Amino acid sequence: MAWAYIDGGSEDQLTLRANRDAFARYSLRSHVLSGHKPTDIGVDLFGTRLDLPILLAPTGFSALAHWTGELAAARAAEKAGTRAILSTAASYSPEEIAQGTEQDHWYQLYPWVNPATGDRELVSSLLRRAERSGFAALAITVDVPVVGNREGERRVGMGLRPVVTPGRLASALIRPKWTTNFLLHRRVGARALVDGGGTGSAVRSARVQHYHMRPELNWDDLAWVRDNWQKPMLIKGVLDPDDAQRAVDLGLDGVIVSNHGGRQLDGAPASLDALPAIAERLQGRVPIILDSGVRRGVDVIKALSLGATAVAIGRPYLYGLAVGGERGVRDVLEILRAEVLRALTLMGRPGLSSLSRDSLIDSPGLR
Ligand code: FNR
Repeated sequence: MAWAYIDGGSEDQLTLRANRDAFARYSLRSHVLSGHKPTDIGVDLFGTRLDLPILLAPTGFSALAHWTGELAAARAAEKAGTRAILSTAASYSPEEIAQGTEQDHWYQLYPWVNPATGDRELVSSLLRRAERSGFAALAITVDVPVVGNREGERRVGMGLRPVVTPGRLASALIRPKWTTNFLLHRRVGARALVDGGGTGSAVRSARVQHYHMRPELNWDDLAWVRDNWQKPMLIKGVLDPDDAQRAVDLGLDGVIVSNHGGRQLDGAPASLDALPAIAERLQGRVPIILDSGVRRGVDVIKALSLGATAVAIGRPYLYGLAVGGERGVRDVLEILRAEVLRALTLMGRPGLSSLSRDSLIDSPGLR
């Protein structure tokens, strides 16, 4: 169930695959004997210097990968000199992340509204809690007016809370790791949705029932959140230059070009393919972060060459989390750091700021 949830995409997984294929269509221009030794791959984002241009994208229920979930991910991120974006549907509450970390991380918001009453009480309370907990920036995710058609998840019965059936209970009782699994399952639920960061599945399910995805999501919702959040705010899930421009005109401070890792509209373009037109339109007015399909240091270089300021990764750090908790996430980030530095050296580049469209060669044959 966890694997289907983490690794899958929607419907025929066309967009999921396109995210990877898009990177393979570019090759890298290299210059020999350049004499450069790149050492610094830091970037400035909203007045904070990050040591690497890679953030951890928000992922819900990360305790499905490892019970230490988002807390371990955020700790690994800050030790690597970057930040994590905490999901609205996280297994750890904003308060727990704030208490368990040194740095101010970012918060991701689903702009839910009670469909019956138009009430934004839940979103207001999440915003207040994120603010009180010191989150430095807000990413508002707009590509989930309804949840994508993830057939793989349905096939294995992925739900908000695992259902204990007699069969499951019987197999759990004969498994030595039963206690661990039980604790993990208690932790998996979306703690952020529970006011005050408390527990209680009754509260949780009542809230989830009343505040679900909002098919009528619109620009007024975005404007409302903008009016209710003072610090930097990014729109996450944009693939069209008109939308990106409208968000920036509305006062947003950054754009996350993303197709949600191929989990929403199957048939949406690869994020990397959507990036150049958005970068062209925004002309450097705000930072652009790209996610969906980044797996290697060379992918980071390609995204930055096409106009991104930084990238975010989802599944790669969940794999690391599953294997080794905080240490596993840290390893993933360090592998990517080493890959970016090595690739820059092989390309004969002094650093990230020397990258541009000219650093890439169209290469339909690279597969
Ligand atoms: C996500 N993503 C996501 N995005 C978001 O805004 N809120 C969320 O709660 C989640 N949850 C989530 C769970 C899981 C298991 C995955 C894999 C992804 C999307 C995520 O932020 C990001 O856009 C993608 O993961 C990027 O693609 P890659 O790096 O996984 O290819």
